[in-house]
Amino acid sequence: MKLGVLGSGEVGRRLAQGFAAKGHEVVLGTGSPDKPELVGLGVPTGSFEDAAFHADIAILAANGEAAPELVASLEGQLAGKVLLDVTNPFSHDETGPYLWTRGTSLGELIQRAAPSVRVVKAFNTVGNPLMIDPPGGPYRMLIAGDDTSAKSDASAFIEAAGWTPVDIGSIRESIGLEGMALAWVAYGRASGDWNGVGTIV
Ligand SMILES: NC(=O)c1ccc[n+]([C@@H]2O[C@H](COP(=O)([O-])OP(=O)(O)OC[C@H]3O[C@@H](n4cnc5c(N)ncnc54)[C@H](OP(=O)(O)O)[C@@H]3O)[C@@H](O)[C@H]2O)c1
Repeated sequence: MKLGVLGSGEVGRRLAQGFAAKGHEVVLGTGSPDKPELVGLGVPTGSFEDAAFHADIAILAANGEAAPELVASLEGQLAGKVLLDVTNPFSHDETGPYLWTRGTSLGELIQRAAPSVRVVKAFNTVGNPLMIDPPGGPYRMLIAGDDTSAKSDASAFIEAAGWTPVDIGSIRESIGLEGMALAWVAYGRASGDWNGVGTIV
């Protein structure tokens, strides 16, 4: 598959390298092409627009607050395509992270920002070291989205990454998946174990 990864933070780099190693043709889209973390990555990089245009399937691995606007700006390149949304709406105060979305979810905000894109929430509930071929897996990965055929396409892709995808409904259900991610962070903070299975079900 031609895969476009949007965002070159820890998650974007991990997924780009992992899926490239599985034989996918990956372009990693970034707004910071000169950052040192990209040196020697072994995956071609381009602008966000380049990666979105290249993609048969795109992965949104951007900072949560920037994500809806980024996807809206790329709707022309992403229209009709599956977009795996890995993002979480985390802000932080002195007690730790909280969800800033209040009554909705980031998955829904992203879908609303670009209605022609087929958004599937996935991968957001696990730490990035486990995203590709989790040891001891396959574990179930809950996914959500409005478009049934998009979830079917996404599922084949997720299975190849060592997971058993389970469809829990429309993009509205992102609200639960993003809550699970918050529980995963609380578990990591309490246990010090960021690479265990955590909230994986
Ligand atoms: N860390 C984890 O293990 C984990 C697990 C599950 C889900 N998530 C979620 O996955 C997403 C990515 O997490 P992350 O830890 O890799 O990185 P991050 O620090 O949240 O940022 C990822 C990338 O987003 C892009 N970005 C930031 N501000 C932007 C803006 N204003 N406009 C456009 N792009 C912007 C940047 O891409 P460039 O540098 O390429 O320009 C940045 O490197 C987050 O939403 C996070 O909540 C993380």
